[in-house]
Amino acid sequence: MKLALIPAIFNCLFYFAAQTSAVTVESVPSASSDGYIHTELDKTVSLTCTHDAASEADDELVWLRNDALVSLKEENKKGQSRVCISPVILKDRETTFTCHLRSNATNRVSVVLNVTYPPSLTEPEGITVEEEASMFLRCAIEAYPPVTSVVWTLNGTEVDLKAAQMTLTNDGLFSTLSTVKVQRSLHQATYQCITDSPMYGARTQVFTVNVTDKTLKFPLYPMIAGIVVVCLTTILAVASRWKKIVKCCK
Ligand SMILES: *[C@@H]1O[C@H](CO)[C@@H](O)[C@H](O)[C@H]1NC(C)=O
Ligand SMILES: *[C@@H]1O[C@H](CO)[C@@H](O)[C@H](O)[C@H]1NC(C)=O
Ligand SMILES: *[C@@H]1O[C@H](CO)[C@@H](O)[C@H](O)[C@H]1NC(C)=O
Ligand SMILES: *[C@@H]1O[C@H](CO)[C@@H](O)[C@H](O)[C@H]1NC(C)=O
Repeated sequence: MKLALIPAIFNCLFYFAAQTSAVTVESVPSASSDGYIHTELDKTVSLTCTHDAASEADDELVWLRNDALVSLKEENKKGQSRVCISPVILKDRETTFTCHLRSNATNRVSVVLNVTYPPSLTEPEGITVEEEASMFLRCAIEAYPPVTSVVWTLNGTEVDLKAAQMTLTNDGLFSTLSTVKVQRSLHQATYQCITDSPMYGARTQVFTVNVTDKTLKFPLYPMIAGIVVVCLTTILAVASRWKKIVKCCK
């Protein structure tokens, strides 16, 4: 929908420019002909809106971020107005910035941020899991442009899900390799989640899984009793204190 809107807005710009009442937007980095500004996370985008009709020199400029008014300092409104998006964050994806005169919203210019980012894979993870417990290895694969492939390896060769008794799921945000019952002979290994993206190439996250012997479950009842005692003591302490506080207030 936005794609269809942008050229229309630019046509307006040229139309109104001919009538010498132009609002123009310049950006760093510069926008493509269809109004998209390519940027990446943590970068800075600066937008400068200029109004150059002498007769309306006093007219204030207004910036909208996705239709919401951007609050501007007083000295950043007349004739020229500048906004900076710094640093660019995920929320800025596909955000539209529009500039127009406060007095006349018809004559407006919009640009859209096109934020690209690789999957946010993290440092190698060491995981210790008990025999017979369940295990989830989660790899963040969300990226723009989207990753073209996700491959999991176990000790260097692609995981054979059936042989390893594991399940692989992918919800677009995470690729998760899991098993409901860990066995040392099958699962103690080094895993790699390898993503490939047309823009950022191959990225890998490493998981080292150690399987420990099954232990007895932590005794819950004594712990609950302990917590109850602590809570009761606290309540009593506050209650007796409260009497004193109330007394001195009277
Ligand atoms: C807004 O400006 C355009 C030309 O720049 C003009 O045709 C139009 O009438 C103006 N609208 C208002 C409400 O002043
Ligand atoms: C955004 O940038 C990416 C990478 O350059 C490009 O593939 C994509 O077409 C751009 N999207 C739009 C809507 O311009
Ligand atoms: C796994 O076990 C090996 C050998 O016992 C040890 O060297 C390594 O540090 C352990 N890794 C983790 C993540 O606990
Ligand atoms: C993976 O390699 C480690 C170290 O060579 C080995 O101890 C482990 O058994 C292997 N895991 C599997 C499932 O083959």
